[in-house]
Amino acid sequence: MNRIKIHRLLNSDSPRDNVLVMGWVRTRRDSKDFSFLEVNDGSCLKNLQVITDNHLSNYSEIRKVTTGSAVLISGRLTPSKGTGQKWEVQANSVKILNIAPESYPLQKKRHSDEFLRTIAHLRPRTNKYGAAFRIRSELSFAVHKFFRDRGFFHIHTPIITGSDCEGAGELFQITTFNLNDPPKIDGKLDYSLDFFGKEANLTVSGQLSAEMLALALGDVYTFGPTFRAENSNTSRHMAEFWMVEPEMAFCDLEGNMDLGEELIRYLTNYIVETCTDDIDLFSKYVDKTLRTTLENIKSSEFIRLPYREAVNILKKSGEKFEYDVSLGKDLQSEHERYLTEQYFKKPVILHDFPKTIKPFYMRVNNDNETVAAMDVLVPNIGEIIGGSQREERLDVLELRMNETGMNKNDYWWYMDSRRFGSVPHSGFGLGFERMMMLVTGIKNIRDVIPFPRTPKTIEF
Ligand code: 4AD
Ligand code: MG
Repeated sequence: MNRIKIHRLLNSDSPRDNVLVMGWVRTRRDSKDFSFLEVNDGSCLKNLQVITDNHLSNYSEIRKVTTGSAVLISGRLTPSKGTGQKWEVQANSVKILNIAPESYPLQKKRHSDEFLRTIAHLRPRTNKYGAAFRIRSELSFAVHKFFRDRGFFHIHTPIITGSDCEGAGELFQITTFNLNDPPKIDGKLDYSLDFFGKEANLTVSGQLSAEMLALALGDVYTFGPTFRAENSNTSRHMAEFWMVEPEMAFCDLEGNMDLGEELIRYLTNYIVETCTDDIDLFSKYVDKTLRTTLENIKSSEFIRLPYREAVNILKKSGEKFEYDVSLGKDLQSEHERYLTEQYFKKPVILHDFPKTIKPFYMRVNNDNETVAAMDVLVPNIGEIIGGSQREERLDVLELRMNETGMNKNDYWWYMDSRRFGSVPHSGFGLGFERMMMLVTGIKNIRDVIPFPRTPKTIEF
């Protein structure tokens, strides 16, 4: 007799003898001759109702089973006589694997997200977080399916690097030095004696490596963890997050925007179609407007708007923003959200930003003022994608590296790619957790990843 997942069991067409189920008890209800156990094994939102009666040798023990206890049940799947479920299991035997003491923190009442963050090791056992992490798995699969179906190759880019792709200096350094007594030369750290013989850090983006592969394989994507030491404690930033980064050779900014739009719509649609029960839970208890938001994303064409026009709209809006809007300044999250939530009420792709606020690798436009950059904004979140066409002209690239103060010696290989067979190419990064927030309606990024990493928190 093999163990069967509750998800499969509840989708059975006919009764079955000899089923074996393992899971955790959510609740126990007793009547005179029966005890009902609601068992969940994490495979789906629904619990399995298990009926135990006084024929079972350990019936008196079963009547003491607590919430959170682990059980192994064998029995018969039969149509349920009660309402609320199609099937139930009549137990032939119940083996109690572990009795959870009354101190189990997840008793039946609803707990706040803040409290559940303090018990992140247990929160996946709640309906909400179980659903979130199942959706996360589906979303990840959908990413791979999307790219595979379109002929992209999945590549792995390094996590430890010697470069700073975004040039923003938000790097976590990696070293094997004894920090209490590191080797120094002329008063400065002597990195030649460090593990890699030079400064090393955790990657902020796989882009630069992905470009090298795109310029060989055509269309590629990398999907991995990225790290940023930005000390901002917001509901949309983490120090460790996952990014999906496609890179396409022979592709301009317009093709890049097309792909970003298609990807977001595809992922939204995929989750709506495959995670029905879990999405129902979120639209009932987390965000009542979730279904409307998701329908809106599925059905609307994204607005495409140059940065300059966005600034005009914001200036004329009459809104009181905390931060000023002016040409040449980066937009803040409040501005992004105004555009996508209030003004257009649908996703917006801003493009052609001033070069002064963007990294060195973005392609300079003919006006010599702006670069072929794009940011995709969606309701409830703001920026979900950042990307660009890349500068493929070596001379312009070198100028930009000088302007932005990059150390060219570190990027000789990057410049080489513009020397040998350079072609127009483009790509972007989709924040995976922000996509999770979009499809679940969860408002804090800490709640869409099992163990969030943010300033001053490294528990679990
Ligand atoms: O706009 P960003 O910084 O773009 C890049 O890193 C490019 N090199 C990507 C590329 O072209 N291949 O980041 C991309 C996306 C953002 O739009 C956002 O969704 C997410 O990554 N992101 C974060 N998510 C969570 N926490 C953070 N601290 C994030 N920083 C960026
Ligand atoms: Mg960005």
